[in-house]
This record gives sequence, C-alpha cells and structure tokens, in this order.
Amino acid sequence: MIRLENVTVRRGATEVLRDLSIQIPAGRITAVVRRSGAGKTTLIHLLNGLIAPF
Ligand SMILES: Nc1ncnc2c1ncn2[C@@H]1O[C@H](COP(=O)(O)OP(=O)(O)OP(=O)(O)O)[C@@H](O)[C@H]1O
Ligand SMILES: [Mg+2]
Repeated sequence: MIRLENVTVRRGATEVLRDLSIQIPAGRITAVVRRSGAGKTTLIHLLNGLIAPF
C-alpha cells in the first residue's frame, strides 16, 4: 500500500498539492483523474521520489 497523510507541495508561492491524504492499495490498478493543472504529475513525481514534500 502507498499512503500519504496531509501532504503539501509548494512551488514558489503556490500550493500545488494541499493537505493531500490518499491510500493506494497494493495489487490494484489505480487511476488519478482530474483536470489539467490539478497536480497529477506532481503527485507521481512525489511518489517516485523526483520531488519532496514542502
Ligand atoms: N516547477 C514548478 N514551478 C511552478 N509551478 C509548477 C511547477 N510544477 C508544476 N507547477 C504548477 O502546479 C500545478 C500542477 O501541475 P501538474 O503538472 O502536476 O498538473 P497535472 O495535473 O499533471 O496537469 P496536466 O493534466 O496538464 O498534465 C500547475 O498549476 C502547474 O503550473
Ligand atoms: Mg501532468
């Protein structure tokens, strides 16, 4: 399982992800669906270690 609790990612003055909490179950195919600019790529970069919270 992947679990995030109350994660915020800032880019400059902008909060790209704010107070995000999610649980992604192991062994399941999970889609992230939201409008352009919502922060999907930022979330993936967070999960694969390309960026850090804050
Ligand atoms: N390095 C950065 N510096 C400043 N703002 C950024 C940076 N990276 C992302 N952002 C901003 O953060 C927000 C989320 O971007 P992100 O690329 O995660 O969205 P997305 O959901 O993947 O969008 P899309 O569907 O268009 O791919 C956008 O408003 C974007 O402009
Ligand atoms: Mg994207």
